[in-house]
Amino acid sequence: MAEDLNIVKGSKEQQYTGLIPQIEGLLTGESDLIANLGNVTAALKEQFGLLWVGFYLVKQDELVLGPFQGPVACTRIKKGRGVCGTSWEQAKPLIVPDVEKFPGHIACSSLSKSEIVIPVIKNNEVVAVLDADSEKYDSFDKADQQYLKKIADMIQF
Ligand code: SME
Repeated sequence: MAEDLNIVKGSKEQQYTGLIPQIEGLLTGESDLIANLGNVTAALKEQFGLLWVGFYLVKQDELVLGPFQGPVACTRIKKGRGVCGTSWEQAKPLIVPDVEKFPGHIACSSLSKSEIVIPVIKNNEVVAVLDADSEKYDSFDKADQQYLKKIADMIQF
């Protein structure tokens, strides 16, 4: 059974550096995707106090809501729609400092002010996106992009 997460204090880099080995531990020995996505979202939410963090999984021509932590969210997103669908279409991470300034942003929660979306790429195909939302403007930067990609890449899809 997993032990409690050890919440790491300090800079963003220190927090990720403390969190990543713990995520590695949570993933080790478990092959079920939903179980692993659930624990990764819980660990990120607990460490960073995010408003919302979760995965959308590519299913046919849509993103479908997967494991997440936070308020209820929209269940299906078309390619090219919102931040998530744009990240999927472009196969690129997107950092949005102010969601109201992103054309076509899908507001699942009125509390969300900034957002980051990381596409998860396996065999040159986007298989999922990792989405994080914050109640503060300008919460995410290149360090988040780099570490969240590293975390997403640790998961066996
Ligand atoms: N804001 C996202 C939708 C998903 S929620 O934030 C959970 C978007 O524009 O794609």
